[in-house]
Amino acid sequence: MNTLYRLIKPILFQLDPEKAHYLTMNTFAALARSGVLKSWFRSLYYGDDTGLQKTVMGLDFTNPIGLAAGFDKDARYIDVLALLGFGFIEIGTLTPRPQSGNPRPRLFRLPVDEALINRMGFNNQGVEKAARRLEKLDRPAGLIIGGNIGKNKDTPNEEAARDYLVCLQRLHPLVDYFVVNVSSPNTPGLRALQDKEPLRKLLLSLQDENQKQAHPKPILLKIAPDLEHSQLDDIIDIVAETKLAGLVATNTTLDRTTLNTSSELLSKIGAGGMSGAPLFHRSGAILGYLRDGLPHLPIIGVGGIHNPETALHKLENGADLVQIYSGLIYAGPGLVEDIKKKISS
Ligand code: FNR
Repeated sequence: MNTLYRLIKPILFQLDPEKAHYLTMNTFAALARSGVLKSWFRSLYYGDDTGLQKTVMGLDFTNPIGLAAGFDKDARYIDVLALLGFGFIEIGTLTPRPQSGNPRPRLFRLPVDEALINRMGFNNQGVEKAARRLEKLDRPAGLIIGGNIGKNKDTPNEEAARDYLVCLQRLHPLVDYFVVNVSSPNTPGLRALQDKEPLRKLLLSLQDENQKQAHPKPILLKIAPDLEHSQLDDIIDIVAETKLAGLVATNTTLDRTTLNTSSELLSKIGAGGMSGAPLFHRSGAILGYLRDGLPHLPIIGVGGIHNPETALHKLENGADLVQIYSGLIYAGPGLVEDIKKKISS
């Protein structure tokens, strides 16, 4: 399968990245859902998860490799993405109302660095549509599904909690865990919700609602890689009080200093969050800091995993589970199975 992707990749890289994403996913979905090809895809990708099972936050993961948020925001492709061998898939970020996101182009490849810059701006079809898809989904056996939730762009921060609550309530019976996203750089002002007091209030109100449900679900917080140590200390301080089940470290970065891409191209691209290989060290440093401060808290490590070695490194340096996004674009979908082979050897 890696050979097949190597053949297709140059063609896909000629296309606008967002178009390439939907073209690939729609083609893959059409083939995989045709039935005849489903077992072929399964035989190509679906490895044996023996020995890779892990129980984290009370959930049984068949393997610790997940798909990061943003790839399947609207829960359109869960069944076909599961064929790639993921142990878990995180949908979202979802907002209460549909929104179109920022004007295109808003997703850019930096091939020299094996990185991406995006300023999507929470484009999504709204929580209701995703919820209906999940209701109809024939859930792949053993697959854990996470719901990443956010606020609409035009909701002021003072009213943000209501947006997160709407998403939490609607998705509650349908997902296995929640991720509160206050770390996207592409919704103006969103990251201010990472400050200690607003964050505490937001998490407490979500936890309050969560505890009222028949089966409370683990709630995690996804954080930015650009936080200072004092801000990370604030988060460490409120984990117990807000009963956070875990952290997701990290989202994309605003930093460009690690890139080899020309400054001309970078200024032409403009604003956005950077992901992919050059994020590995920064997200790893944040993971390490959080692990030291919270020795027993589950942490999902994400950021810059681009080969089996970098996945193993995160798992050996504090991550209970890992997620990938940009690595799939550069290394191809065979990366999931390659990582699983590496960590089980
Ligand atoms: C993302 N990411 C993201 N994260 C999130 O919490 N909600 C979202 O909606 C999105 N959307 C999104 C879109 C695009 C195009 C990209 C590239 C990324 C961030 C993603 O989940 C992950 O945290 C980072 O990309 C870092 O991981 P990688 O890409 O280096 O493996």
